Amino acid sequence: MNYNEALSKLKEFDQEHVLKYYDELETDKKLELLAQIEATDFSVVAMCKDANKEVSKGEFSPLAAMQLSEIEEKKEEFEQAGLKAIKAGKVGAVLLAGGMGTRLGSDDPKGMYNIGITKDVFIFERLISNLLDVVRQSSTWIHLFIMTSDKNHEATVKFFKEKDYFGYNEEYVTFFMQEMAPAADYSGKVYMEEKGKIATSPNGNGGWFISMAKWGVLDIVKRAGIEWLNIFAVDNVLQRIADPVFVGATLLNNAAVGSKVVKKAAKDEKVGVMCLEDGKPSIVEYYELTEEMMDAKDANGEPAYNFGVILNYLFRVQDLIDIMNKNMPLHIVEKKIPYIDENGELIKPEEPNGYKFETLVLDMIHLLDSCLPFEVIRNKEFAPIKNKTGVDSVESARELLKQNGVEL
Ligand code: UTP
Repeated sequence: MNYNEALSKLKEFDQEHVLKYYDELETDKKLELLAQIEATDFSVVAMCKDANKEVSKGEFSPLAAMQLSEIEEKKEEFEQAGLKAIKAGKVGAVLLAGGMGTRLGSDDPKGMYNIGITKDVFIFERLISNLLDVVRQSSTWIHLFIMTSDKNHEATVKFFKEKDYFGYNEEYVTFFMQEMAPAADYSGKVYMEEKGKIATSPNGNGGWFISMAKWGVLDIVKRAGIEWLNIFAVDNVLQRIADPVFVGATLLNNAAVGSKVVKKAAKDEKVGVMCLEDGKPSIVEYYELTEEMMDAKDANGEPAYNFGVILNYLFRVQDLIDIMNKNMPLHIVEKKIPYIDENGELIKPEEPNGYKFETLVLDMIHLLDSCLPFEVIRNKEFAPIKNKTGVDSVESARELLKQNGVEL
């Protein structure tokens, strides 16, 4: 794309300020900026004007979860079925590590965060150690795909190499990068993070499968005969990955996706809750739960909307391929976005100053026909690290790790 083409694209979206410093740039930076303008989808920014509009949702109804008592009863059967699939190489794992982890406030990728007290214990190390439990149990290496973003790819890959993959088999680890989306101020003008670079943010965790396809990683999945992908967040240091019991339960129930869930701690707890929306599996956000829904009861007199998602899903690959080209809703998220001001100075704001645009993995669930919510014990499998202190923090996760016998 040449200068004039770039200018006319920017005019179309009212973003001409992107070229404000163009004349000052070195030739290679000029070319990089033109390439970024060409690659950027500015149409998402037009959504700023809809930022406060409510997204219309369908009709919610309860979706029963498979609860601990039933899982305990059928554990042996599920475990055997899960192990069989794992040993046959049909299960892969996908670590979503492309997020910025802004709440934790470290400049490094979140997985590099050291949560140890008397020794080093990195978040990535905990996750690999959990996956290694299943590798040992099944005597099978499980393909691990790690999604990074433009902001943390190099550092993540380097860290894994330096740490010798924490004992994992390097041949079974594949990195791929997610896409980026421009970040804008409240009026819908994209921010610049350098004179020759538009500010961008990872485009959410909903694009992981499309990014796998774009990076050619889906070819590895197909070649290896992987039929199920267990996707999981970087920040839950207690989670079980490729858990044979969960895998077996999802397979035997012939569900398109299995979703690990925990019983809510309070009826208004801030977690997304598994449900049906217009008869299809979905997740209702805590702020969408009405009083009536919070108090609704199932046939056993238990709360009908009682199980929160923990971002650990087992997707059937064929179903993912089938829904790949379907539209996903775009979410607008308020964020602190570093930018250069009128004087060309880099500002790192203390408070949110604009929007980033994301698709979310939970919206994929609604595109599928069936889902098995699978209950796990909260204190054993859910220790998310979002913040340094307080709720869902390094502190709370350390406490839970200790309770589970992990040395820190
Ligand atoms: P979070 O919702 O916690 O987002 O991500 P975040 O960006 O990492 O953290 P904050 O909000 O800035 O503090 C949940 C999971 O989804 C991944 C994260 O890495 C985490 O595992 N994620 C999120 C991506 O892989 N890409 C994204 O664009 C966003």
